[in-house]
Amino acid sequence: MPSSKDYIEMDNEYCAHNYHPIPVVISRAEGVWVYDPEDKKYLDCLSAYSSQNTGHCHPEIIKALKEQADKVTLSSRAFHNDMMGPFLKKLCEVVGTHINDPKNSGIMALPMNTGTEAVSTGLKVARAWGYIKKKIPKGEAKIIVCRDNFHGRTITIVGFSTDISAARYYGNFGPYTPGFITIPYGDAEELENTILEIGPETIASFLFEPLQGEAGVKVPPEGFLKEVREICSKYNVLMMVDEIQTGLGRTGELFACDHENVKPDIMLLGKALGGGVYPVSAVVTNRDIIGPDVIKPGTHGSTFGGNPLASAVGMKSLDVHLRENLPERAKEMGDYFMKRLKEIAEKRTKIPVKEVRGKGLLIAIEFEENARHIVEELKNNGILAKDTHATIIRFAPPLIITKEEIDWAVDIIEKVLVKQ
Ligand SMILES: Cc1ncc(COP(=O)(O)O)c(C=O)c1O
Repeated sequence: MPSSKDYIEMDNEYCAHNYHPIPVVISRAEGVWVYDPEDKKYLDCLSAYSSQNTGHCHPEIIKALKEQADKVTLSSRAFHNDMMGPFLKKLCEVVGTHINDPKNSGIMALPMNTGTEAVSTGLKVARAWGYIKKKIPKGEAKIIVCRDNFHGRTITIVGFSTDISAARYYGNFGPYTPGFITIPYGDAEELENTILEIGPETIASFLFEPLQGEAGVKVPPEGFLKEVREICSKYNVLMMVDEIQTGLGRTGELFACDHENVKPDIMLLGKALGGGVYPVSAVVTNRDIIGPDVIKPGTHGSTFGGNPLASAVGMKSLDVHLRENLPERAKEMGDYFMKRLKEIAEKRTKIPVKEVRGKGLLIAIEFEENARHIVEELKNNGILAKDTHATIIRFAPPLIITKEEIDWAVDIIEKVLVKQ
């Protein structure tokens, strides 16, 4: 039987080195736990970057996947299938009450696969709406984005990222798509000033994360979402919210925008929508923005988008999130986890802690120094977490985690972090 070491060597030889993984091999998983080939058990505190809200291999989601796999998996959008409609109907019902629809035009979705595709789709929709509905002069539509954003990895998306090393790769991926303007995150005044400076008549959309995940769990100042909503409405700019990491309960509300009762015009979803088993993403908005007068046949698509297998999984994932009250659980368990982590941070830690922050079960500890060795020590002690930007460790376990499991994790984190 090959060992963990053999698998890591194989990855290094045959897979492009586009990641720098923690040296652990996962060969099976259940709930919040994952196991390596030697059967060592770990608590998953990354959840595949917040995709495993419902826990690994949720029995109902796996059942839906298997049942659908025996019927039909992929039809392409050249034909209709009997799963996409019911899935999107449910998605629009669940998400619809969280979407701004001032003309009562109705809620529609465009299904894709990965998060980055949902973002690309949202950008196309926003620009098309800008030209067709807002009457922006051709070729002049602009989209405002935030510093330290993370929206995925396509050329266009990395082109407006400010992460020079990881995303833009020191200019080796350019030239990039024009038409994006970057402003600081969490600064509503700067948003309004920028709109006025550039000219509101040419701005199609403001794209941002309601809480920046990959940037290191950066929570915007209280009131930011509300102010953005007001500014976007005032200047007829589409408020496009990337809830790919924060959506479906992760931050303790169904969507992070719910913390301020704010309804975006366009919501981008992915990750947990696929129940941790299959890539499922979507753009959800209103018919006035994405209806047949804006998105016409041939203007956008994906061979796999809206396939029957993805639809069956997506529908079941929504069911499970709602029925198991995962947003409330994330709030309750997240508050508890954060409180315990803050207590640890007060002690004499091996490297100084700058801040413990987050919302729900999206929590980070920021250190004053590089924290990679802490991540490796946590792994050696049975906890899988991941550093981001070298000094920040994110803790984002599946939302089904129990208080006992958090206590178990906190004991280990304390052992690893605190000077004995
Ligand atoms: C906020 C946000 N948007 C988009 C993406 C990209 O999603 P994917 O990796 O599925 O393309 C991510 C991934 O981490 C994300 O956190």
